[in-house]
Amino acid sequence: MSAASSNAVTAPAGLDGRELRNMFALFPTGVAIVTAQGLEGDYIGATVSSFSSVSLEPPLVLFSMARTAKSFASWEAADSFAVNILSEKQREVSSQFARSSGDKWQGVARSITDAGLPLIEGAIGSLQCRTWARYDGGDHLIIVGEVFAATKSSAEKPLVFAASRYAVLADEG
Ligand SMILES: Cc1cc2nc3c(=O)[nH]c(=O)nc-3n(C[C@H](O)[C@H](O)[C@H](O)COP(=O)(O)O)c2cc1C
Repeated sequence: MSAASSNAVTAPAGLDGRELRNMFALFPTGVAIVTAQGLEGDYIGATVSSFSSVSLEPPLVLFSMARTAKSFASWEAADSFAVNILSEKQREVSSQFARSSGDKWQGVARSITDAGLPLIEGAIGSLQCRTWARYDGGDHLIIVGEVFAATKSSAEKPLVFAASRYAVLADEG
């Protein structure tokens, strides 16, 4: 296999893991923390950039969870979850919920909904979802949820993740 220039289109089979990760990272996303009740009655949470809206009717969203996550068994079993869409002021909490070690909830204000889902204070919006389907996504599990409640809580700008770094949206104009 040869590449004529550094801009050449390369077959995925020719990309090593790091190159592929860098290619995926070219696509900018927002940042969310998905939360749920864990199997041990604890509250679990993880920072995700894989959140996406899917359908309006029915109202569906998805995210994908790495099978290597410590709390993977809980995510696989969760029958409901919340999506907390982070504001540009929440880089710290994003980093905290991206680390497997330690107490992710340390110092994080939260409220528990009637459905028993933890919502993170300061998020610009939150969606409560019932798990609608789970699909094999290779080394990830794709979890699709049907939204049953949605709250817009702040007018802050969203946190952005692009090229493996946090970014903020520039003002228009
Ligand atoms: C900006 C950002 C986006 C992330 N997106 C995802 C994602 O979409 N899916 C995923 O499985 N892990 C993602 N991670 C890593 C997880 O947050 C991390 O592995 C997870 O919190 C570990 O959970 P655990 O405590 O169950 O091991 C992301 C991390 C960061 C910093």
